[in-house]
Amino acid sequence: MTLDPNIRAALLERLQFYRELGVGPLYRREVSRPTTPDPGAELIDGLAAIADELEAEAETISEESYLPSANTGASAKAERRPAELEDRSARLRLILDDIGPNCQRCKLAKQGRKQIVFGTGAPNAELMFIGEGPGADEDAQGLPFVGRAGQLLNNMIAAMGLKREQVYIANIVKCRPPGNRTPERDECETCSPFLMRQISVIQPKVIVALGATAAKHLLGLNDSMASLRGRFYDFSPPGTLTGGEPLECKLVVTYHPAFLLRDPRQKKEAWKDLQMVMRHLGLSAPKREANPENP
Ligand code: URA
Repeated sequence: MTLDPNIRAALLERLQFYRELGVGPLYRREVSRPTTPDPGAELIDGLAAIADELEAEAETISEESYLPSANTGASAKAERRPAELEDRSARLRLILDDIGPNCQRCKLAKQGRKQIVFGTGAPNAELMFIGEGPGADEDAQGLPFVGRAGQLLNNMIAAMGLKREQVYIANIVKCRPPGNRTPERDECETCSPFLMRQISVIQPKVIVALGATAAKHLLGLNDSMASLRGRFYDFSPPGTLTGGEPLECKLVVTYHPAFLLRDPRQKKEAWKDLQMVMRHLGLSAPKREANPENP
């Protein structure tokens, strides 16, 4: 007997939901059939059949699509299974849900922002870029670094031999400050717990702080860019634990792409910062050197 399409669709949706939560694999349980017709039997059969289909589908998804590319260096992350990736995606979605679609926690909510710009990229990225806050383009599209500065950031990522989808990109604040002003301390502090949670889910090996606002907020230092750049900092997101242990990763400071657009001579310096990160991650530049000086 075939299952009613509406019930099938509802079951499929429910199973997908379980899979996203990391519940599974599902299996058929041997049941002794009652002699009288059981109205639930068809549903159970249908559910088991759909579960089988989903499991088969999951097995056909190429493992490669979940793994960092060969260029990200040998790492423990290469052993990650799709379920772990799904778990991270679900945990990131939970953070987004906790923020809510109409966050009112700070004054940016009432200063013309259209939407929250959560962050984007691989939930298991080894490399994370953190900027200052969304601009007009980002506010319109709901994605970080999609305007002119974003184009340059894309070139910087490509110059490192990576694709934008392989890294994770976020900002110190998730709402656009009016007129692209620098986010204020209270705004950064209000938004910070959500960013720290994102970092502890993604567990990057390296965070690149783009510009002084990101660097100063993440490091709690008020030094000049010149003195902040050129070294690795140990970074442990405050207030978050990973499996009972504080997460530790490295943090590097470089110039904000918007600053590099205004002063292209500094691209050379930014490239030095990125090369330092590449060495740490075992990355090599693509053959045709697409460095940010020659995008
Ligand atoms: N500048 C930032 O700091 N972040 C963005 O997302 C875009 C521009």
